[in-house]
Amino acid sequence: MGLLNKNIFLIGMPGSGKSTVGRQLAEKFQMPFVDLDYEIMSNAGMSIKEIFAAYDEDHFRQLEREALRAVIQKSAGAVIATGGGTPCFFDNMELIRKNGISIFIDVPVTELISRINAAERDKRPKFSNNTDLAVTLNQLVRQRVPFYKKAHHRWDGNEQTIDELELIIKQLATQP
Ligand code: S3P
Repeated sequence: MGLLNKNIFLIGMPGSGKSTVGRQLAEKFQMPFVDLDYEIMSNAGMSIKEIFAAYDEDHFRQLEREALRAVIQKSAGAVIATGGGTPCFFDNMELIRKNGISIFIDVPVTELISRINAAERDKRPKFSNNTDLAVTLNQLVRQRVPFYKKAHHRWDGNEQTIDELELIIKQLATQP
């Protein structure tokens, strides 16, 4: 049993650091870490890239939704890194909000660009074509921020420390 009995959901753009921050928080709170993309891949027996190639984005979003529901069903105190698009489909954001503490990791697009290098880009089907990364990211941010803003807290992933985030989560965890 970890230090908190609530799930912590990390949401935000690809490259915002959800998995890295998630692992660090899991260690601090002695809680299991769950990576939703990994859950989808292990359920499907395929990489995200292969799922997009064999089916389409709609199918991926269905698998993502099922994986989210399954993770919620089995976790009462885990740190869960979602995929960048997870909160923006179906009523996923409502599900996330109802089942734990949600943190929007906010990082400026310029920083996302520098973090998403060529290798990373290849793994992410939404960025692997020849479109301009900055244009694609800016478009996605415009569509997604209204969903991300529904999180319980916005954490500035560029300016604030993990220790600050730890404190904020502890405070949020004591609220009913
Ligand atoms: C996606 C982000 C990816 C993964 C999939 C789709 C998106 O997760 O779920 O490639 O729509 O932004 P990360 O945010 O971990 O890269």
